[in-house]
Amino acid sequence: MSAHTPPAGGVDYAGYLRLPELLALQLPLSTPEHPDELLFIVVHQASELWFKVLRHEMDGLIAALERFDTMRALLAVQRINVLTEIVAQQLTALDTLPPQRFAQFRGYLGASSGSQSAQFRAIEATAGLRDPHFLAAIREHGEPPAEVQAALARSTLQSLVLALLAHLEVPLVSLYTGPEPTPLFLLVEGLLEFEQRFVRWRFLHVQLVERIIGPGTGGTGGTLGAKYLMRTTNHRFFPELWAVRSEFYGAR
Ligand code: HEM
Repeated sequence: MSAHTPPAGGVDYAGYLRLPELLALQLPLSTPEHPDELLFIVVHQASELWFKVLRHEMDGLIAALERFDTMRALLAVQRINVLTEIVAQQLTALDTLPPQRFAQFRGYLGASSGSQSAQFRAIEATAGLRDPHFLAAIREHGEPPAEVQAALARSTLQSLVLALLAHLEVPLVSLYTGPEPTPLFLLVEGLLEFEQRFVRWRFLHVQLVERIIGPGTGGTGGTLGAKYLMRTTNHRFFPELWAVRSEFYGAR
């Protein structure tokens, strides 16, 4: 059953997509309106829409892992990886924003910052980030939003995939030593690819920040800006999946 009632006169393109409502949501605050603020808003809004889809697909991935359904999990990871790449590429649109022009409307943002994105934090928490700096960052301004708390209460993706391997009695390292690549190998490598693409988002973002506000300028959210963001590139969702590679080089 549909969650929403279709309009009485039938559905058309604008009605189905709620375009009048959607296109009325870009509201620059600069006065007179700065010609670059629309791009700034749309890249953020589009990223939040993609975060919404990513979270939805991550729920599907978790459900597949919990059912020990390797093939469905593999398909989910493939889609998640494409979405993560898209969201990273969105940032490059803002590379065309020169620093002096951003400075002309930055003041209108007040204390708002991407670091307050509940969906981004929920994605990190769902993926399995439990780094103490991350946990401190999300609690800095009081209780984390409900979706972040719910994500923190779940099993991490790494523990779910390790549980799948245990269920199938397949040691992680054997995926790399077996004679043939298997769907499980593709799944585990797909998760690693997800992390790689996510870290790529972090790098593209920190470079964007350096390019627009410079390496030494603090953020509107109160951090050290690029210096803080560079440190987050060390966060890892899947330490075990990264560490297993060292097996082949005599170190763990
Ligand atoms: C002009 C472009 C941008 C600038 C100058 C910028 C700047 C910053 C800065 C300085 C921070 C650190 C927190 C703070 O103190 O504010 C930050 C965090 C963040 N920004 Fe941006 N940002 C830009 C574009 C974007 C876009 C398009 C997104 C997409 C949603 C985004 C999402 C985030 C997120 C999720 C964080 C938190 C990252 C973390 O804590 O790991 N930013 N941004």
